[in-house]
Amino acid sequence: MTRRGLVVGNWKMNLDYVEAVHLTQQLVTLLRAQAPASVDVVVAPPFVDLRSVTSVVEAERADIEVAAQHVSHRERGAFTGEVSLDMLTRLGVSWVIVGHSERRTLFHMDDDVVRETTRAALARRVRPIVCVGEDLAVRDGDDPEAFVTAQVGAALAGIGADPDAVVVAYEPIWAIGSGRSASAEQVRAMTVAIRRALAAHGLEGSRVLYGGSVTADNAGTLVDDGAVDGFLVGGASLKADSFHGIVRAVDDCYAGRR
Ligand code: 13P
Repeated sequence: MTRRGLVVGNWKMNLDYVEAVHLTQQLVTLLRAQAPASVDVVVAPPFVDLRSVTSVVEAERADIEVAAQHVSHRERGAFTGEVSLDMLTRLGVSWVIVGHSERRTLFHMDDDVVRETTRAALARRVRPIVCVGEDLAVRDGDDPEAFVTAQVGAALAGIGADPDAVVVAYEPIWAIGSGRSASAEQVRAMTVAIRRALAAHGLEGSRVLYGGSVTADNAGTLVDDGAVDGFLVGGASLKADSFHGIVRAVDDCYAGRR
């Protein structure tokens, strides 16, 4: 086991900058009291909170990295409302979530834009967390693995990246915010299929996360039996103790393997 665990908190459109600073400070305190040995911790606040959060992280010299939830694949220009990769790196942002299902379904982000964004992020040394996942109709159909691995292939075609730089997050749409996580068996089957698709792109070492109603209670089983490297967490990342509980659960799994 050479890959480290990874837990990413996606705050979505929650927390203004004052609340974001408060949560970051609480997290710094908890991580300092009980630092994970084998898990990387990333938080993804809304754009307007990014500088406040990176300032706290830098001032505290905390072991937390900061992600954006989205970015434009364009460099600059007349793209009202968009934010560029250079703007993010200037703020100390080192990761970006690409193609979250909420961006795909609500904001029409298609596979081509996901690929262009992944490519642009890698070129700027910002690590993409590429999101894939099926809706309920696909889950109930013949071959959800084929649907999801096609999304992986579309996002990574011709990328030729360092495996460490790329993360794939499997987030079944029906499990997001539903309180109903996928089962460890479903996650394992999908993770195996995703790893096979990654290997076809020379990315067998890349980390695979699961997202969708993850809590401190189901995290350990999903890592051990679902064979993921960690999580992309929504709701449970908005409170320091529940997010830290997930980090600890993942770290405990890794401790058992050391
Ligand atoms: P929940 O953890 O709230 O289900 O959200 C998952 C998610 O969409 C993270 O990106």
